[in-house]
Amino acid sequence: MPTVRDIQAQAGEKPITMLTAYDAVTATLVDQAGVDITLIGDSMGNAVLGYDDTLPVTVDEVASRTGAVARGTEDALVVADMPFLSFGTDLQTSIENCGRMVKEEGANAVKIESNDHTTELTERLDELGIPVMAHVGLTPQSVNQTGYTRQGSDPEDAKQIARLAREHERAGAFACILEHIPANLAAQITDELSIPTIGIGAGSQCDGQVLVINDVVGLSEQSPPFAAAFGNVREEMESAIDDYLSAVEDEQFPAEEHSQVAEELDDLY
Ligand code: KIV
Repeated sequence: MPTVRDIQAQAGEKPITMLTAYDAVTATLVDQAGVDITLIGDSMGNAVLGYDDTLPVTVDEVASRTGAVARGTEDALVVADMPFLSFGTDLQTSIENCGRMVKEEGANAVKIESNDHTTELTERLDELGIPVMAHVGLTPQSVNQTGYTRQGSDPEDAKQIARLAREHERAGAFACILEHIPANLAAQITDELSIPTIGIGAGSQCDGQVLVINDVVGLSEQSPPFAAAFGNVREEMESAIDDYLSAVEDEQFPAEEHSQVAEELDDLY
């Protein structure tokens, strides 16, 4: 099991790989493939829970899935993504919610969508031994303020994002996600920070990359413009489900090899 220091040591030597997972089976697959960090993203809201965005995701939902992912993981660093309003309202509740992921569910760290109100929390969590991954740029929990558009495209906005990244590094964050910002801004932030940056829609100059597993395997109905599919699981699933329905309707399934007969029951009625 790597520590956050191992992840930091990897930066600049070898790109850090990070993927989301929301269940034990997927967690085991990404772990066995050698991913460095598995994120139980609040993207589970859209990806698996049927919500339109991440805002309704609850602490209980993230906790349950963090436990499942931690149980399915041997080697990757497990990071739980703190959902909307589970942090930032008051310090005590925020610490308890973050602490639950580590203490009860087996996460190694938490991720927090960062803003000015999260620097103090980041500092306290770090002091308490809960590593924090910061997240700046597009932060989907702010969808009602920013939409899902690229952030940091004008110089003022870009400076704000760089400042937030710097302040969270200073507060003790061990790494920083840069989401949907211009590649040249991400490159400058990566140069400036001493903690690793992990990009999503932020170009190739970050220390690592993260994507949502559903996008990577080709399961999503819709993906953001910066994502890429490396498979077509959706088509595979559609075809398997169609074949199963046809086999049942055509009375081809179950075949003899799928049925067991207990001979002593032959003359029961
Ligand atoms: O919720 C999530 O999956 C994320 C990553 C894509 C960075 O925040």
